[in-house]
Amino acid sequence: MTDMFLNTYQRSKEDNDDDSIFYAHPRFVHHLDDAFRGRLKQLYRDKLSKDLIVLDLMSSWTSHLPEEISYRKVIGHGMNSAELEKNQRLDAYWVQDLNKNQDLPLENSSIDACLMVAAWQYLQYPENVAAELKRVIKTGGRLIISFSNRAFWTKAPRIWAEGSDLEHLNYVKDVLIAQGWREPQLLYEETYKPGAMSFLGLKGDPFFSVLASND
Ligand SMILES: C[S@@+](CC[C@H](N)C(=O)[O-])C[C@H]1O[C@@H](n2cnc3c(N)ncnc32)[C@H](O)[C@@H]1O
Repeated sequence: MTDMFLNTYQRSKEDNDDDSIFYAHPRFVHHLDDAFRGRLKQLYRDKLSKDLIVLDLMSSWTSHLPEEISYRKVIGHGMNSAELEKNQRLDAYWVQDLNKNQDLPLENSSIDACLMVAAWQYLQYPENVAAELKRVIKTGGRLIISFSNRAFWTKAPRIWAEGSDLEHLNYVKDVLIAQGWREPQLLYEETYKPGAMSFLGLKGDPFFSVLASND
């Protein structure tokens, strides 16, 4: 057990049923809009080289990785095996409820980069997950935690459900630092709808990302 950051109320959520019930049926939908996903893909293009072993933690049927880049290996984790089976980027995957067990079945220093998208917001024990990620990510490796202003709110612990966008960013940062991560970089950006209507300047889902390196 690592240093505890949250109290019992902050960990609680409106829907306390087992998470496996909520995720029992696959959702083959996009949780974030095309503007957000385009920004995320560009971030991955900028930060991830093809020689990396990538972990997509709390994944689904899509990993948002740039199609033109083949990584050394992409390992997925999530709650629904049908979604993970459909995810064409994954070389391997496993299913695990991280609100029940935060021990990752991965060797020490076996991962170059871990990605989490619209995911941290569902963690009731983020301290333990942050500590496990520090263990499995190689020295010099990366952790990229991205999210927007949406969530399955009944499944988000109150620390998230009752917080603002800025509070979410600082919360993720503070948990990481408390578990020994160096001060991460925070991205806080607006996005704009791509395509034929882009000249109208219509806004998309806001883009937030916490970029940490395991130094
Ligand atoms: C909004 S979806 C985002 C999925 C994916 N990262 C994406 O960008 O499409 C939230 C994901 O968090 C993961 N998740 C939620 N609760 C979880 C739990 N208790 N344990 C492990 N993973 C969980 C599931 O994989 C679920 O698909």
